[in-house]
Amino acid sequence: MLSLLTPNPQGLLQISAIADHQIALSLVLPTYQEKHNIELIVEQLAAKLDYILPGAYELIVVDDDSPDLTWSIAAELTAQYPQLRVIRRVDERGLATAVIRGWQIARGQVLGVIDADLQHPPEVLGQMWAAVNHDHGADLAVASRNVEGGGVSEWSILRRILSRGAQILGLIIFPEGVGRISDPMSGYFLVQREAIADKILSPLGYKILVEVVGRGQIDKIAEVGYEFQERQSGDSKVTGKQYIEYIQHLLRLRLSHSRRLLLFLVVGLSGVFVDMAIFYLLRENLHLAMSQSKFLAAEVAIINNFMWNDRWTFGDVSIRQPGKRRKLRRFIKFNLVCLMGVILNILLLNILVWSGIKSEYGANFMAIACVTIWNYWINVKLSWRVTDRNNPD
Ligand code: GDD
Ligand code: MN
Repeated sequence: MLSLLTPNPQGLLQISAIADHQIALSLVLPTYQEKHNIELIVEQLAAKLDYILPGAYELIVVDDDSPDLTWSIAAELTAQYPQLRVIRRVDERGLATAVIRGWQIARGQVLGVIDADLQHPPEVLGQMWAAVNHDHGADLAVASRNVEGGGVSEWSILRRILSRGAQILGLIIFPEGVGRISDPMSGYFLVQREAIADKILSPLGYKILVEVVGRGQIDKIAEVGYEFQERQSGDSKVTGKQYIEYIQHLLRLRLSHSRRLLLFLVVGLSGVFVDMAIFYLLRENLHLAMSQSKFLAAEVAIINNFMWNDRWTFGDVSIRQPGKRRKLRRFIKFNLVCLMGVILNILLLNILVWSGIKSEYGANFMAIACVTIWNYWINVKLSWRVTDRNNPD
């Protein structure tokens, strides 16, 4: 089957949550000028997958209208490989968007990507599949050059430096995504459809994995070592442009992740006003003791902050954890984190003043800033983490 695909004007891409239960895995092969590789890679992948997942997978070639007619060669192969589908995308270029366009038409429950130039060995697919394929399996299985069993065959010093440099840059700009994977540059991985379905994806350039980790609900990650093979035929399409796009892509992710932190700060500020107002009411109207008033005021502020954060700051996460019990669980965690925050705040204030900071108010401000960031991180990791997606409530 050969389909023609025309450009997608807005550049914002979404993947449907609906899968075909007959198909366990959809593996996308992005291609540009791979006429000498396409037949062999399809043959190797079909052999491997016929063994692991007989009749339950599909291969999707997404070709950007290669002048060497890779798409046409691939289309001819479909007679021999019924599991193969081919997309010829016209008037649009780009590795990352090609992969997502492929996933958009994919039917499988697990979505994957592999280079079509034989630099990614199909042998490790078995281990990757095993990592995602059980009830509490990984959300993401990445083939990595930087774990045991991984490596690069004959890379020049320059290429190694560029690759590591790109990784370090990623760690600086977008540590919460890039820092989770030993090989964030990998273009060989499998991801659960439900982890990225219905997210607004807007990748740029080459590094689709960064987008998946940055926008998906990825809880558990598995890594499988592999040796990056030398290219036997054709050329890499990487140019300076891809490095620029990579930086732009990281900045885009940084911005959208900072938006969450910003909302958290706004909600936190609203809590300060709630706290002050309640404190005033309890003191002036009900004449409660100071500590008692403060405790109640703080608790009301915590409830206020929770409601806004649950609905707004982390709304996308809450929606995936429906039900009153789960909400209560998130609230209890949030409450505990906030109370621990208060203790940490007092501790830090003491340490700062003891270490010689002159102004108590300045020290208190620094302590509040630290604790706010701490609160944010712990709550991202604990309260609004997608923990029990598979457990019915
Ligand atoms: N559809 C489409 N459109 N495919 C493309 C495009 C494009 O614009 N550009 C490249 N491809 C395809 C290639 O045909 C190949 O199958 C795959 O994407 C990877 O492209 P290469 O140009 O061979 O990339 P590379 O080997 O230099 O870079 C690889 O580096 C990583 C490791 O650092 C990436 O491709 C990663 O996948 C890989 O893990
Ligand atoms: Mn390559």
